[in-house]
Amino acid sequence: MNDYSMPFSTAVGVDLALAAQWLIRGETVAVPTETVYGLAANALQASAAAKIFEVKNRPNFDPLIVHIPSFDAMPDFAENIPDMAIALARAFWPGPLTLLLPKRSNIPDLVTAGLPRVALRVPAHPLLAALLDILPFPLAAPSANPFGYVSPTTAQHVYDQLGGKIPYILDGGPASIGLESTIIGFEAGRAVVHRLGGLPLADIENIVGTVAQQLNQSSNPAAPGMLKSHYAPRKPFLLGNVQALANAHPRHKIAALLFQPGQELPDHVAVYHLTDSGDLREGARRLFALLRLLDASDADIIVAELAPDEGLGQAINDRLRRAAAKS
Ligand code: TXA
Ligand code: MG
Repeated sequence: MNDYSMPFSTAVGVDLALAAQWLIRGETVAVPTETVYGLAANALQASAAAKIFEVKNRPNFDPLIVHIPSFDAMPDFAENIPDMAIALARAFWPGPLTLLLPKRSNIPDLVTAGLPRVALRVPAHPLLAALLDILPFPLAAPSANPFGYVSPTTAQHVYDQLGGKIPYILDGGPASIGLESTIIGFEAGRAVVHRLGGLPLADIENIVGTVAQQLNQSSNPAAPGMLKSHYAPRKPFLLGNVQALANAHPRHKIAALLFQPGQELPDHVAVYHLTDSGDLREGARRLFALLRLLDASDADIIVAELAPDEGLGQAINDRLRRAAAKS
């Protein structure tokens, strides 16, 4: 009997021509980026982009980032581009920065969830850059995880959850940054951050001055991606002082995610470290893989502590807080 919810036997590899063929046929393909793996489809074809929502089980009020090959392609999909956006794109593309810009009419409303702005990004991963160069269209791509779950940073993570649902996973190795892009919009002549991410705010402020914050808008359709509970493991996930949290649950199996080595914890606690020596880039790179590992472990409860609240630590802490929001 056919299982129509599993329409594909998913292949994994580095075949750019094959990935391009599926995309040209209007199917979805998982692609590596320097931030996290994306689930890509033709951004100019609504019926192709619609499959992304279907595969991810993503509500259609949550718009998709459009990945373009280069800075020069920006005016093909956006108009009235502010000078600040140009300056940021010149400074940080290709890289982990997404810009919200007034959309051109060639971007289907489905992709922007009916919003007037399109999210554009030039990704830095060489395999995806090569794919975008050979395709005649840009790629809409959210993170390649079921809606609400932890984002994938390896091809295996994608396969574990979307295997059978998509035809191909382009394997570009582990993501080098490990956190999604920083999302910046522009309002009343100011840059506004909508999502903290792989590009630290201080780098952005070096170019455009102080950036206003508009985070955590749990039901605001202007920034739907900032749902309060997101990136969430299935197990209860508690954030705070790990020692106190572990002591409060003496009869449970606890997995603890510490920022770095150095703390003694009781015997019923399995200890994991986000970093070996406190390097925030290492922590960003490892965060999502560790959340998956802990979620798959035999622990009843996951407890974690925040990273130092500076640089990439702010984005790490944002993800930890959202992971804990439903528990
Ligand atoms: O690093 C990344 O940004 C990764 C890789 C694959 O590029 N993509 C990613 O996509 O994280 P996603 O869909 O998981 O998160 C994109 C966020 C969503 O929260 C969405 O609501 C917001 O961007 N977004 C996308 N288009 C938007 C728009 N037109 N207006 C406002 N927010 C938008
Ligand atoms: Mg996502």
